Amino acid sequence: MTTASADDVRKEFDDLCRSAGSARDLMEKLVKLLHARMLKYNWVGFYLLEPGAEPPVLVLGAFEGAMTPHTRIPLNQGICGAAASSGQTVVVDDVNKDPRYLACSLETKSEIVVPVFVHGEIVGELDIDSHFPAAFTPEHQALVQYCAQLVGQKMEASPI
Ligand code: SME
Repeated sequence: MTTASADDVRKEFDDLCRSAGSARDLMEKLVKLLHARMLKYNWVGFYLLEPGAEPPVLVLGAFEGAMTPHTRIPLNQGICGAAASSGQTVVVDDVNKDPRYLACSLETKSEIVVPVFVHGEIVGELDIDSHFPAAFTPEHQALVQYCAQLVGQKMEASPI
């Protein structure tokens, strides 16, 4: 499988948004698309906030890549917890230098986590791990943020 340009993947994702029947369907197709088409996206998954959980917890949703031990992540743990609690995209160029990092695979070198918002409220996040250091350049950040934003819009328009 050759790697695609961010622009190519954006177009394919736009098509998915139009054809997906639900937000869940879109998330399942998106993780497959990003994992298959982007050479450096070696684990791609969604974590969703468990409705009503107190304290709040992120629960693993659709993903593509190796199984992870981190299926439930409290907001005070991990890069995932940092992104969800701050509502900000978190990019880590070298996970081994970040004390927040929860290891999923020994091969992971860099990670991006982008929150997903529905009507301005965070509902989850799109998490991508790479076997390459500093994989998530500004161009990649823009692509992943675009995907997360359109998933949020799909959730606003149709039930999960
Ligand atoms: N590395 C994440 C945990 C999830 S796995 O990468 C799939 C973190 O530090 O929160």
